[in-house]
Amino acid sequence: MNTDVNNIGDKLLQAFPAGMEQVPNEFVPTKIHQREWLIHGELKEWKGPISQVLSPIHFKNQNGDLLPHELGTLPDTGIAEADLALSSAEDAYDHGRGLWPTMSTYDRISCMQKFTKLMLAKREVVVNLLMWEIGKSRADSEKEFDRTIEYIQSTIAELKQMDNGNSRFQVVDGTVAQIRRSPLGVVLCMGPYNYPLNETFCTLIPALLMGNVVIFKPPRFGVLLYQPLLEAFQSAFPAGVINILYGRGSVVVPHIIGSGKVNVLALIGSSKVADQLKKCHPKSNRLRAILGLDAKNSAIILPDANIDSAIKECLTGALSFNGQRCTALKMILVHSSIAGSFVTKFAKAVNELKAGMPWEKMVAITPLPNMEKVGQMNEYVEDALKHGAKVINTGGGVHQGTLYYPAVIYPAKPGMRVYREEQFGPVVPIATYTDIDEAMDYIISSDHGQQVSIFGEDADQVSRLIDSLVNQVCRVNINSQCQRGPDVFPFTGRKDSAEGTLSVHDALRAFSIRTMVATKKNEGNERLFNQIVKGQKSNFLNTNFIL
Ligand code: G3H
Repeated sequence: MNTDVNNIGDKLLQAFPAGMEQVPNEFVPTKIHQREWLIHGELKEWKGPISQVLSPIHFKNQNGDLLPHELGTLPDTGIAEADLALSSAEDAYDHGRGLWPTMSTYDRISCMQKFTKLMLAKREVVVNLLMWEIGKSRADSEKEFDRTIEYIQSTIAELKQMDNGNSRFQVVDGTVAQIRRSPLGVVLCMGPYNYPLNETFCTLIPALLMGNVVIFKPPRFGVLLYQPLLEAFQSAFPAGVINILYGRGSVVVPHIIGSGKVNVLALIGSSKVADQLKKCHPKSNRLRAILGLDAKNSAIILPDANIDSAIKECLTGALSFNGQRCTALKMILVHSSIAGSFVTKFAKAVNELKAGMPWEKMVAITPLPNMEKVGQMNEYVEDALKHGAKVINTGGGVHQGTLYYPAVIYPAKPGMRVYREEQFGPVVPIATYTDIDEAMDYIISSDHGQQVSIFGEDADQVSRLIDSLVNQVCRVNINSQCQRGPDVFPFTGRKDSAEGTLSVHDALRAFSIRTMVATKKNEGNERLFNQIVKGQKSNFLNTNFIL
């Protein structure tokens, strides 16, 4: 190792605190030993086995060893509790006759507004838990919380608009009808560890607002942060409308889907898991799936691209939250004529990123969730080196504990794992192309089809690419990194990247089905409809307007 590399290793080691006294007061976490679990609307005391929650933030001991900090413990529930959660949800839904699925949209919105208020009161503690449980920077943790609140508010606004639009009757060929959207039943929501709050709520909130009941399974990392929200769930919604599963996902989730009683699977995770879970349902035709899955988005750097601005976008595109975003740029395809200068400048920009603890100002590289993740990144790098690539940034791939210095791999080639696999971490492969068809072929032959970024200035070339790429992926970003937001835009993908579309508007549709009440237009039926509507007798058949 040369001196620069040693320095980077030392800096990474120094970044870890030696004790809690080195953590700024406002970020010192309180240990949470969660013993309550929400079932049938009650916070019951859990007396069974528990599991330990370790932080990706390690502490240095006197020998300079790094040891994970314990954040608390959680109920380690199993199959019996999964069955209870399912029966709690089923009772609340009661075949569509329960309080929640038959409640008026206005009243459901009021419950959600109450929940939002209670959730806002927990902002500080949830943001701190995001930092400690998944190692997300303070700025990004705050963004995740605030974006979730905004998502709830825009979903409510969208629902009002949708509901008001449906508050009318249509008369066609002598049939009078009112068409609305109704819930689907029991929804199982599973979010990913990189956005444990936001991406779980992106399915949970629309599912609830449409009148479904929910069982949700927090991700592997980012579970304790739900503890401060338990009372809010309990007091804002009727009993059994929200149920939480703990324990091993690989055991409890196939079990409840195998019961045939889950109507919707909402999963943001891997295509492999989604495939397996869908097969567990005894009648797969009854299971609706809304899935956000793997992705390996590319950046195509054209010869006339503005290199400095492309580097800026690719840097955040590839390495925000250490590359742990489904939308991250996971392959950079650069034209051979500019590859030399692009690679040099990119490597320099990567090495200017600050590595440190989530609470530090301007920090960009933060701890990975556990040592297994560090091992996976090492394997990608070693495999690429074995196949002839180099790590072209000084210190790339150096790690101490969970802090992993990003590795820029060049030139990435077919046969290297990182050429095709979704690395989901701080390893950035750069490959070159000479003919644009090579870049296009890479995308066509990929198993993924979420997004792409094109960097270039020539309108003819960019438009030719747009017209081909819109049929390969679902979002083509021009001179900008790939990203999900703003959340009102459709978020989806082709091939192994998604099923169904999520956006504020689309999610409400995904968790509901068009349902109508119709009658033959005659005097008696008109009278009956008028009595129902004027007498405010039905929560479905009405012309109410929600302001
Ligand atoms: O991990 C996938 C997220 O949906 C990405 O969202 O592009 O806003 O970071 P983002």
